[in-house]
Amino acid sequence: MNDLIKKLVEAFGPSGFEDGMRDLVRPEIEAYADDLRVDNLGNLIAYKKGDGSGLKVMLAAHIDEIGVMVSHITEEGFCRFTNIGGVLPHNLNGSRVQFANGTVGIISSDRLTDRSKIHGLDKHYIDVGASSKEDCPVSVGDPAGFKREFLAQGKRLTAKSMDDRIGCVVAIEALKRLESTPHDLYFAFTVQEEVGVRGALTAANQIDPDVGIALDVTLTGDVPESNPMAVRLGDGAAIKVKDSGMIAHVGLVNVMKQRADEAGISYQLEVLTGGSTDARSMQISNGGAAAGCISIPCRYVHSQSETVDADDVEACIQLLVEILSKPIEL
Ligand code: CO
Ligand code: ZN
Repeated sequence: MNDLIKKLVEAFGPSGFEDGMRDLVRPEIEAYADDLRVDNLGNLIAYKKGDGSGLKVMLAAHIDEIGVMVSHITEEGFCRFTNIGGVLPHNLNGSRVQFANGTVGIISSDRLTDRSKIHGLDKHYIDVGASSKEDCPVSVGDPAGFKREFLAQGKRLTAKSMDDRIGCVVAIEALKRLESTPHDLYFAFTVQEEVGVRGALTAANQIDPDVGIALDVTLTGDVPESNPMAVRLGDGAAIKVKDSGMIAHVGLVNVMKQRADEAGISYQLEVLTGGSTDARSMQISNGGAAAGCISIPCRYVHSQSETVDADDVEACIQLLVEILSKPIEL
């Protein structure tokens, strides 16, 4: 599975520029889907037919990632940029980004007069090796993704864009392992989550699911001076109860807990005080859906060293398979 993780996390795909990601996911799921389509916004949706006795269930994992976009190029050939999604200035100095044409840039910032402070994004720039505006290999409007190699160190897996390529891996693996299902399943590999859970909303409006389950990362409370939070790396799949954009459907949370208990899958309950997922979009689409989220605990979210635990990933896959292969009584 690490080969698949490496392939997905290292790929380019800032929000709005997910074509390459779609091309990587499609061959992984083709053989397991009864139908495969791409909608106008770019969501890749795989349909797997149920036996007619179940519900219409939508799964959502986002294929986009945070990134940057060139907003201005100086006479000396340095690129000023804006953010695509939640880019954190304190994670930027010395970072490398890669553009769609292969150009690699290094991020630095204007001189700090007070080193205890951090500049905002507007005082950072990308050095792409140009010496003037004329020989700059990228243009205003070009997006770039962060560039970092996948690292597997024991059970700890580290990469840029674990958020949410690891959720995509959970979806892909569950689809592969699912032998039979009573439900009509729609696996949506969604776009533009990082800029406001947009792709999942239009996908859910088309699919009109009874139940929506997002697969995404969540924060942990197990590092020095972290915000108090009950989720710990290595303690199992996180069943979301609430985040700042959604209160999960109580019946669905109970089904998730019950399936985990029956199958002996380790899990923890998640209350996230900041941030949300595609589950929010599914919940408020059309006339509404019973929505929830299976979260993969992740340290250092929105840095280039997002870290998950392989056992947690496996627990999330197993839990999803258990939920989808049995009736869902809300
Ligand atoms: Co994110
Ligand atoms: Zn995410």
